[in-house]
Parts: sequence; C-alpha cells; structure tokens
Amino acid sequence: MYQLLNLINNLENVLGKTVGVESISLRISNNPKFDFQINNLVKLQNHKHIKDIESSFSEIIDNEALIKSFEITDTYFINLEIDIEKFSNSFDKIKKYIKVRHPKTVLIDYGGPNIGKPLHVGHLRSLNIGKSLYRIYSLAGHSVISDIHMGDWGMPIAQIITYIEEKQIDIENINIDDLEKIYPEASKLYLKDDEFKDLAQANNKRLNENNSKILKKWKKLKNISIKSIKETLDALNHRFDLWMGESDVNHLIPEMIQKLESEGKISLDDGAYISNLVSEPKILITKSDGSYLYLTTDLATVLNRLKQNKIDKTLYIVDKRQNLHFEQLIKSLNYFDFGDEEYHHIAFGTINDSNGNPYKTREGDAKKLINLFKETSLQIKKINSDLDDGTNKLLANTVLTFSDLKTNRMTDYKFDLNKFTNTSGKTGIYVQYAFVRAKKLLNGSSINTSKINLNIADLDESDLSLIRGMIKFEYYFNLALENNEPHHLADYLYELSNLFNSMYQNQNILENKKETVKFNKLKISEFFISYSALLMECLGIEPVEKM
Ligand code: ARG
Repeated sequence: MYQLLNLINNLENVLGKTVGVESISLRISNNPKFDFQINNLVKLQNHKHIKDIESSFSEIIDNEALIKSFEITDTYFINLEIDIEKFSNSFDKIKKYIKVRHPKTVLIDYGGPNIGKPLHVGHLRSLNIGKSLYRIYSLAGHSVISDIHMGDWGMPIAQIITYIEEKQIDIENINIDDLEKIYPEASKLYLKDDEFKDLAQANNKRLNENNSKILKKWKKLKNISIKSIKETLDALNHRFDLWMGESDVNHLIPEMIQKLESEGKISLDDGAYISNLVSEPKILITKSDGSYLYLTTDLATVLNRLKQNKIDKTLYIVDKRQNLHFEQLIKSLNYFDFGDEEYHHIAFGTINDSNGNPYKTREGDAKKLINLFKETSLQIKKINSDLDDGTNKLLANTVLTFSDLKTNRMTDYKFDLNKFTNTSGKTGIYVQYAFVRAKKLLNGSSINTSKINLNIADLDESDLSLIRGMIKFEYYFNLALENNEPHHLADYLYELSNLFNSMYQNQNILENKKETVKFNKLKISEFFISYSALLMECLGIEPVEKM
C-alpha cells in the first residue's frame, strides 16, 4: 500500500523501537464505516508498553493527511477511513503507487507445449495465469521475461521420427494434422511393440549424439509444430519473449552431471544417478540406461538461464499434478548450490466438464484450444451477431481468460460456456459491458471531465461506494502479486463493475438537473474507466470499445 507508505513506515518505526522488527500491513476493514484495518497490534494486547504504542500510533495516524478518521478498538484493531477528497486528487497516480521498492528480474516459465501435440485445454490455465502474472509483475516495476519452454526433445520426438520412418511417411509433405495423429499412435506402439521401442531408443540416442540426419528431421517437425502453436497463440493473444526449449540445454547436461558427481552431490546406483540429498522418494537425476529425465533437463535449464540473464526469481506456471517434480527440482537447486535465486512452482487445478471430469472432446482427446476459442467466439456471435470480428475476438478471449482467472488457481472448475458468456453474473462479458457503458456515458456527455473536481458534499451513497471501492486497488494488487494469485484482481474488477452499475442505474446521469451531481458522476465514471482498464491489463484482457 504505497499511497500510505509514509504512514506505514512511521508506524513500523515505532514498532521496531518497542518490540523489535515488525511490519505493518493493511487489510480491508470489515467495518463498512472504514476502509482499511491494521491488526498488527492485536497480538501485542498484553505487551507492557501497549499504551505507549497506542498513543504513538494515534499521533502518527492523526498526522496522516490521507486519513480522515480512525478508531482503535478495545482489542487493538485499528480502523482507518480514507479522506475521499485527498484520494480523488491522487487517484491517477495509482500506477506509481503500485511500484515495488526493490525491482527484480523475474522469469516466468509457462505455456510449455510439446512438439507433435496441439495446444489444448490443459494449457489454458498456464497461459492465462502466466500472462496475467507477467503483466502484474511488470506493472509492479519488475523486469519480466517469459519463456514458453517447449517440450522439444527426448523420447516423444524420437518416437514420432521412428514412426514416420517405419511407416515410410513423406516427412517433406507432413502437416500439423498428420503430426497430431502420429504422436498418439507412436506412443501406443512404443508401449506394445518391443521392436519399435528398440528403434525409437536408437533414434533417441542418435538425437542426443546430434546425428545430422536425424536433427534435420527433428528441425522439420519442430517448425511444423511451432507454426501451429503460434497460430493458436495469435488467436488467443499471447506472445512470448523467449522460445527456448528442452533441446537448448541438452549439451549442458554431461558437464553438469560430471560436476555434481565430483562435488559428491550425486552418486551412481545401478547405472542411474541419484541425488545424495536424503529425501523420500529418492531423487533420480538420470535413468539407469543413462538417459535424461524431465528433472535433468529442468536442472540444466536453470543453469542455462542464469548464464544468459541475471534472474532473481523464476515462476513455473504448471499443473499441480507436477507438484512432486517441482518440489524435487527446487530442493535439488538448493542442495546443488546453483545459487540463491528464488524458484516457485505456481500450481493450478484442472478444467472439468459439467460432470466434473477433465474436459475432453467427444473422441476422448483433450480439446484443442483453437477449437475452444472458435466455439466461444461462435457462442458470442449467437448472442450478438452485430459485433465486428475484432470485437468478437476480444470478447471470446475475455471469456476464456476471465472465467479462468476468477477461480482461485488451486481450485478445479467446470467449463460452462453458457454461464461464462452470460451478460450478468461474474463473467468477462459483464465487466466489459460495464466498461463500455462508462465510455459511452462520457463520450455522450461532451463535457471535459479532466477539468472537473469532485464536489464532495454532493456525493451520494452510490458515488461514495464506488470511490471507496477504488481505494482498495493497491490492496488487491499487492495480494495478487505477493501470492501469485490473479483471482483477487478478477474478483475486484467484478466488484468495481457492480458498484459502477449501481451508480449508473440509479438515475439518468446526463439528464440530472443539478450540475454538481452530474459532474461528480461523470468524474467518477472517468476514474472507473481507468481502474477497470488497468485491472483488465493485469488480467491480460483487452477492453472493447463497443458491444
Ligand atoms: N512440457 C511440459 C509438459 O507438458 C511442461 C513444461 C513446464 N515447464 C518446465 N520448466 N518444466 O508437462
């Protein structure tokens, strides 16, 4: 809460002197008369100097211009009421207030598609959460790098190539549809046909030895996949800074293994390298046939990233089913002394169908994202056939993003297109609609709102509620940033849109006889537009101009 930074610093100072280091944090007050609450003193109720602390706090809060009134309860909850007039003079500085004190370089590893497989429903949450966190961290002032981290190496690719060779498929004329059919066939064959398995393993070995003939085939397949992945990402409005993949770090692995062994961090056990870190289950670094594991590649990827950029913090936006993998990765990075950078697995739950089963096509495959996008866009067309294609696309993406991000990322949710495209309820359509309404109101008024100051005495209940809703921006922004949880901002955008609609529906604003009331409402609508646009930016949604 940087708008109140001075206040917080001063309070922390007092606490630091009396009870050692302690930090003050603001919460939303549960008393509707107030905006924020500080509850750091509650646990100090019985402290021998609590009366002194209380009086120092009172004095400091009294001197803070942004605070209109406050109370300290019997149990030492402190409730604060923000001065609306002072707030309204600084509301446009919100982008400055949300900057962190110590910016870092943050790498976000998300998307994670694999060669030969289309982007499907299983990738949606990683893409949405990743893009949203990318925006949130950037707005907070961090420098952010996104890496799609392609699964473009190893056994699955060797299986595809072997299948193509065995079935004498003309690789020069292969397209993405062929490739997507080949992948499941090849992995089936690998499991049941020993001869095929041997051939695939030999190909995998050749791949790892950088055999030029097989590399040429690999390159060809990778290009076909990337082209199709990029088409889907374009439709869904995603872009990445880095298109690195598993193949980019393969050459670093032998040296990494050698070094870990000489440092006594790993040992050979039946041909496999195992981490010497005591843990249950044991952490396998390579397989007994010497081949590399998912973990081997992820370890080398960290080394590669640190070599190329100075990265302070890495976020892996990956399905919670990979919890064990990331737990092992992060433990190993620590144990292997790869550095003191931060690593976090940002896990998420699954998208289910109406019966609560993982969302699939009728044939039982994971639904392709491009098809999900097309169905959503068709549904929106059904509801409103007048929309131009650009707006339709933005709305389809709003639906796919908002319906996803409004759910706490750890919770599974049911994909329900009818519900998600509804104009009422907590939907992407609803928040876009409130935004468009506000824009329309301002455009229809021919009044230059930038010159208007609020007339505080003439604010009514619905105006005040909306303004006091906007005061919470920094709070929710920090909550999302600190916990890597975009849903706080999706909920908050819905809350503000609701408050705007209440104000808007109360009366016909442009026809109001009293000029100060009308101007107040236009000015507040202008605030709302910028807050709503900023929240959409945080969520990775583009606001539409008309609906
Ligand atoms: N390609 C992986 C998969 O399909 C996801 C990659 C996630 N990122 C990572 N660094 N492991 O499961």
